[in-house]
Amino acid sequence: ALQRTFIMVKPDGVKRGLIGEIIKRFEQKGFTLLNAELMTINRTKAEYHYTEHKDKPFFGELVDFITSGPVFAMVWEGENIIEVSRLMIGKTSPAEAAPGTIRGDFANTKAENVIHGSDSLLSAEREIENFFGLLKRNIADDDF
Ligand code: CMP
Repeated sequence: ALQRTFIMVKPDGVKRGLIGEIIKRFEQKGFTLLNAELMTINRTKAEYHYTEHKDKPFFGELVDFITSGPVFAMVWEGENIIEVSRLMIGKTSPAEAAPGTIRGDFANTKAENVIHGSDSLLSAEREIENFFGLLKRNIADDDF
């Protein structure tokens, strides 16, 4: 199915100059960039983005990190992009992220791992709305 997802280069990735490399990989794969903006987010937006982790011991640290500098927020579209982009991104733990994936090639800590990608259709919609305001429908009408 044609899907939209929210992809974000985190502050460490922006500082290390990885925006171009990450855009290149998504373009090479044949995905379409629909929206992009360099922005520094406030704690409210960060806490909403990471709601599912609010009870984790690292939540405070995670919010501090993601608000510590500009992020590069993007909306990408493509066939099964939610699943495929997560394969391209790689696992959270640097010890498990395979070479050839973005984290496998560029990340070496769990906390500062360069990139975020939505893990489901519902989180994609919620995250796109949180960062870009407009709710961009993701689930096709004929899915109902
Ligand atoms: P991500 O998988 O995109 O979303 C949850 C984030 O929480 C994860 O990336 C990491 O950036 C962060 N995270 C996960 N585990 C830890 C940890 N043990 N310590 C700090 N941050 C973490």
